[in-house]
Amino acid sequence: MDVDALHDRARALLPREVYDYYAGGAESETTLAESTSAWLRWRLRPRILRDASSVSTATTLLGTPVALPIGVAPWALHGMAHPDGETATARGAAAADALMVVSTTATRSLGEVAAASDGPKWFQLYRVHSPAYTDELVRRAAQAGYRALVVTADLAVLGRRLRDAANDFVLPPRITMANHPRGEGGPGSTLGAALETMASWTFDDIEHFAGLTDMPVVVKGVLRADDAQRCVDAGASAVWVSTHGGRQADPAIASAHALPEVVDAVGNQVEVYVDGGVRRGSDVLTALALGARAAFVARPTIWGLAVGGAEGVREVLGELAGSLSVAMALCGVSDVTDVPADLLTTA
Ligand SMILES: Cc1cc2nc3c(=O)[nH]c(=O)nc-3n(C[C@H](O)[C@H](O)[C@H](O)COP(=O)(O)O)c2cc1C
Repeated sequence: MDVDALHDRARALLPREVYDYYAGGAESETTLAESTSAWLRWRLRPRILRDASSVSTATTLLGTPVALPIGVAPWALHGMAHPDGETATARGAAAADALMVVSTTATRSLGEVAAASDGPKWFQLYRVHSPAYTDELVRRAAQAGYRALVVTADLAVLGRRLRDAANDFVLPPRITMANHPRGEGGPGSTLGAALETMASWTFDDIEHFAGLTDMPVVVKGVLRADDAQRCVDAGASAVWVSTHGGRQADPAIASAHALPEVVDAVGNQVEVYVDGGVRRGSDVLTALALGARAAFVARPTIWGLAVGGAEGVREVLGELAGSLSVAMALCGVSDVTDVPADLLTTA
């Protein structure tokens, strides 16, 4: 299943304002536009005659075993793409044996998504309602079996998403943020009303969450070496290089371009992940050669869910996995945990 073709099919299926919400970025959408092509700053230097008869894509992410170094990034409101929402995504990810990161802004409760599949899951955290309520969500996530806490740190305020403004985007009928307290984040509410609660967060809040839970803490939205080190000093077990899909600061450096400085700063201390415009196995292989432990995807799984439900999500992840395996075999790489840096040169 070609990801671009799937995108076209999803665009045709979804109401205009929902499609724009999923596809869009902030301000001039420069970061969004560059996120995919940024991976092409590098070219592979294929190695020949290395016995490519078997390649292994299996790895561990903070100790969680997965079949792929490709996971489902947290994205909001799966229920607008498919009636089964996050429970379908969870089944699709589990069928591909891939990690799913479940957003705070899910349309199904964190317990319901945890129960929907046996697949490995992490919980992504926004502040909701109040600090005390947010801490309670963290405790519930640990109890429900989530294996790590991903604190999204690049949403001090909501980026200016001009498509949503033009469409007067609000949560559609029957769509509710199920982890919010009753009466908040329901039909008719704006994203700002539901989400603008994190402006005061600092590295102290990372320290707070790291102390609050036994789950390892991942900080998502890191684009600089100095911030990466401060996250680690505050107790993060991993950092996640991301521009939030080009939906926050714009024009921000593309994740692919920020990854090397973050790996340089903290790659020998913690695991580093990346997302943003990852669409092919070669993008994943490039990310791994640059020092990432895994790459995550959001929009391809949105299109997969919209077009084919759980099966669509499984197929998208399967397509990426197949593309990665071929890229590995063609580059003489037999194991995703051992991708040499000299596999790359600049274009
Ligand atoms: C529609 C949409 C909703 C998102 N919602 C969240 C969210 O709730 N929490 C979060 O941490 N990131 C969220 N993100 C950002 C993604 O986790 C991820 O960083 C980014 O989209 C990856 O880029 P890609 O879409 O090009 O694969 C969202 C992205 C999209 C496209």
